[in-house]
Amino acid sequence: MTQMRVFVTGGAGFIGSHVARELLAAGHAVTVFDNLSTGHRQQVPRDAAFIKGDLKQDQRLETALAGHDIVIHLAALVPVPVSVLRPVDFTENNVVNTVRLLEAMRRAGVRRIVFSSSATVYGNPKRLPLREDEPVALPSNPYGASKLAAEGFIAVYHSLHGFDATILRYFNPYGPNELCEPETHVVPNIIRAALNDLPIPVFWQGEQVRDYIYVEDLARAHGSVLNLTGLNYFNVGSEKGVKVKEVLQAVTDILGHPLRIDDLGERAGDVPAIYASSERLRKATGWQAKVSLEEGLERTVVFFRGLKAGV
Ligand SMILES: NC(=O)c1ccc[n+]([C@@H]2O[C@H](COP(=O)([O-])OP(=O)(O)OC[C@H]3O[C@@H](n4cnc5c(N)ncnc54)[C@H](O)[C@@H]3O)[C@@H](O)[C@H]2O)c1
Repeated sequence: MTQMRVFVTGGAGFIGSHVARELLAAGHAVTVFDNLSTGHRQQVPRDAAFIKGDLKQDQRLETALAGHDIVIHLAALVPVPVSVLRPVDFTENNVVNTVRLLEAMRRAGVRRIVFSSSATVYGNPKRLPLREDEPVALPSNPYGASKLAAEGFIAVYHSLHGFDATILRYFNPYGPNELCEPETHVVPNIIRAALNDLPIPVFWQGEQVRDYIYVEDLARAHGSVLNLTGLNYFNVGSEKGVKVKEVLQAVTDILGHPLRIDDLGERAGDVPAIYASSERLRKATGWQAKVSLEEGLERTVVFFRGLKAGV
C-alpha cells in the first residue's frame, strides 16, 4: 500500500488513538487534530504530529489540512443518553462541524474521507446478521440522528464534489483507552465495577445480544480502506452475537472471583439483539476481526488494572 499523509480528527480519543497507532505502524504519516474535550494528549502516539484545535475553527482547520491525502473523521460527541439531554450540542459538533470539515477539505484540496458511523443508524434489525445492504431506519435519539445526518452530508460531497468516502458503521467497540465520562458502554462498566468490587448494573438479565469488536481490529479496518474510491458503506463488527451475560462470565473467569450483579430489569428502547455481517468489507479489503472476545477482554482488564494501580 502506498504511504499516505493521514489527518485524524479525534485522534486523542478512545478509538482515534488506536487508529493513529495502527496507521503509523503501517508506515503512514499521521496528524492528530483534537480539542482534548474528551480525549487525552498522552494517548496520542509519540510519532504522530499533534494539533490542539477545534473543528469549529474553520481557517485553522483548512491550514492544518493542507498537504494531507485523506481524513479519518472520528471527532464527535458520543454518549447516547447525553445526546438526549444536549441535542443542540450534538448537532453542532457531530453535524455542523462535519460540514465545516468537509468545506475545509474542499478548500484545502483534500477529497478523501473515512467516517466513524455507528450501527445505530440501522435501528432495531429485522434480520440477523445485519448486512451492509440493509436500509437505515428512523433515528430514535439525537446521537443516531447526528450520525445519519453526517453520513448524508458526506454523500453530498461525494456526488457534488467527487469526494471518495468510506462510511464505517461500528458495532460495539471495546478495549484499552476507553475513558469516557459518563461511561455508558457495557464492557468498561463491567470491568471497572468488577475491579472496584462494585455492583454491576445489568438490564434484561444479561440476555441482550451485541457484537463486541476489539478496538485494534476496528483500527485495522480504517487502514484497510484508505485506497478505496467512490462511496462505500461497511459494517465493522466481529460478526458474532454475544449475550451480556457471556461477557459477565468471561470477565468472571479472567478475574477468578464472582461478580456482584445489580439486576435492573427491563429498559425501554433497548434493541434486544444486533450483530453484524461485514461481508462487503471483507470482500473489498480482506479485513476481518481476529481478536477473540476472551483475548480482547483480558487485554482490556490489564489496561483498567494498570489505570487503577496508577501505572
Ligand atoms: N465508542 C463507541 O462505542 C462508538 C460506537 C460507534 C461509533 N463511534 C464513533 O467513533 C468516534 C470516536 O468515538 P470514541 O468512542 O473514540 O470517543 P472519544 O470521546 O474517546 O473520542 C472523540 C474525540 O474527539 C475529540 N473531539 C470532539 N469534538 C471535537 C471538536 N469539535 N474538535 C476537535 N476534536 C474534537 C475529543 O476530544 C476526543 O478525543 C465517534 O465519531 C463516535 O461517534 C463510537
